[in-house]
Parts: sequence; structure tokens; C-alpha cells
Amino acid sequence: MIKVIVAGFKGRMGNTTSHMIINHDNFELVSVFDPRATEKLLSEISEFKGQDVPVYNKLHDIDTSNIDVWIDFTAPSSVYGNVKFAIEHDISPIVGTTGMTDDQVAELQSISKNKKLGGLIAPNFGISAVLLMQFAQQAAKYFPDVEIIEMHHDNKLDAPSGTAINTAKLISEVRTPKKQGNPDEKETLAGARGADYEGMHIHSVRLPGYVAHEQVLFGSKGEALTIRQDSFDRVSFMSGVAVAVEKIQGYDELLVGLEHIL
Ligand SMILES: NC(=O)c1ccc[n+]([C@@H]2O[C@H](COP(=O)([O-])OP(=O)(O)OC[C@H]3O[C@@H](n4cnc5c(N)ncnc54)[C@H](O)[C@@H]3O)[C@@H](O)[C@H]2O)c1
Repeated sequence: MIKVIVAGFKGRMGNTTSHMIINHDNFELVSVFDPRATEKLLSEISEFKGQDVPVYNKLHDIDTSNIDVWIDFTAPSSVYGNVKFAIEHDISPIVGTTGMTDDQVAELQSISKNKKLGGLIAPNFGISAVLLMQFAQQAAKYFPDVEIIEMHHDNKLDAPSGTAINTAKLISEVRTPKKQGNPDEKETLAGARGADYEGMHIHSVRLPGYVAHEQVLFGSKGEALTIRQDSFDRVSFMSGVAVAVEKIQGYDELLVGLEHIL
């Protein structure tokens, strides 16, 4: 049995993940963590009846002696500290939380490498999003003019989404940097052209009812290509999280992107 803690268990993703871990034959939920928690045991919450596992609301109170994997679905402001804590206690992190800076990721990778500890940061655990990123990178070799539109629920804290940034990074590996649009274009309303990543524009939509969606639009002379993926339900991320929990202890570094372990 792989022993798992879920950080952010009171949130939308943390809740779905906690149920997945409990219902999986090879995983054991050994504790949960969320600063919003007031319970001592998870079983005090009716939907988790029978789960007598400890609930923590302070990072440094967590008993780390019996945990193999730390799953993090928390917030951009807390993820770095949480993951550093996990790595320092030899717990393999599986990180879904987005919003870390490149420097923070690099530092965590360096600590993991020294410890030879496996871990994964995945901006998106959905197979459709992983495929979208791969297809977009393939298409960008032929279509260097590209814009990204990402659409999420209106409670999301960071913009643009981690998936959109990762899509742009993957495209930039094969695309010669170029500024798109008219060189003389002017925004008459600030932000109209979206964020700029090496000349590619990224647009963030936030609406109630949405979960996580992305479109990559390529344009060329007389033709266009649109690639789109939709995550309609948070359960769509769970098969990716489960694969990561199962495989991560077989690695000795902190990887970025689910595609590396599929
Ligand atoms: N990688 C993916 O596939 C994927 C998919 C969906 C969402 N996300 C990301 O996951 C994160 C969580 O999303 P959500 O919709 O569940 O958010 P949410 O706001 O519903 O839940 C976040 C939870 O984290 C808790 N939290 C805050 N600080 C914490 C800390 N220091 N330690 C532990 N818990 C803490 C909050 O109290 C809250 O319960 C976001 O960054 C989101 O972008 C990733």
C-alpha cells in the first residue's frame, strides 16, 4: 500500500482526490492537511464516515514518519512551502497546484536531485490536456502564428493557467520567437491583446460553470487550425493523479509534466 497525504483536502480538487485515494486498492490515505480544517479526524465529516485518519491544519504539526506521497492541490501562495517541506521529509510530491515561479521549481528540483527523490509537478493531470499540448507543439513547427485561449471557473486564483503557460513553453521549444500581429498595433483598451509569451498571446477567460478548458489557435495564409480540450468534471484528473502516485517512487528526480511518466 502506498501511504498518501492530501494537502488542500477541503478544496474542490483535494476533496475529489481524497475520495479517489480512499477508493483505490493500492493506496492508503494516512492523513489530510488544510489550514481551513477544524476537525481532528477526517471521519468527523459525514462524507468521509469511517476514515479515522488525522486532520492537520498546520504544516509543522504533520507527522511525516509514515507518508510515502504528498499530493498537493492547494494555492499558489502555499504550494512552494508545502512541497519543500515534503521533499525535506523524504516524501515524494505529486503537485497539481499551479502558480509556482520557474525559480521555485528549479530550486525544488535541485533539492530533490540531491536527495534522489522522485516527484511530479503536473500543470494538468487530464489526458486530453496532455495530448493537446503535444499536438500543439507538433503543429507549431508548421504554424508559427499562434494564440492560446484558456477558460476556467471564476474562483481560479492564477492567470494565465499553468496549462496555458506550459503549452506556450512547449511551442516555444520548436518555434522561432516572433512578435505576432501588426507591428504598429495599439491597445485602445489595456489588456485587449492578452499576455505576451515570446510574442504569442495568451487570453484568460473566467466564468462560473466552467471547469478547465483550452484552445490553441493557429493561423496561416488561407488556413487555420484549432485544437481544443475540455475538462468538464474534476474526476477527469484522477486517472492521471493515480498513475503518478503509483509510479513516482520509481523515479529519482522532480519531473514537470504528466507526459514524462505516462
Ligand atoms: N494539475 C491539475 O490537473 C489541476 C486541475 C485542477 C486544479 N488545479 C490547481 O489545483 C489548485 C487547487 O484548485 P481547487 O480548485 O481545488 O482550489 P480550492 O480553492 O477549491 O482548494 C484549495 C484548498 O487549499 C487549501 N489551502 C490553502 N492554503 C493551504 C496550505 N498552505 N496548505 C494546505 N492547503 C491549503 C484551501 O483552504 C482550500 O481548501 C489550484 O492551483 C488549481 O489551479 C490543478
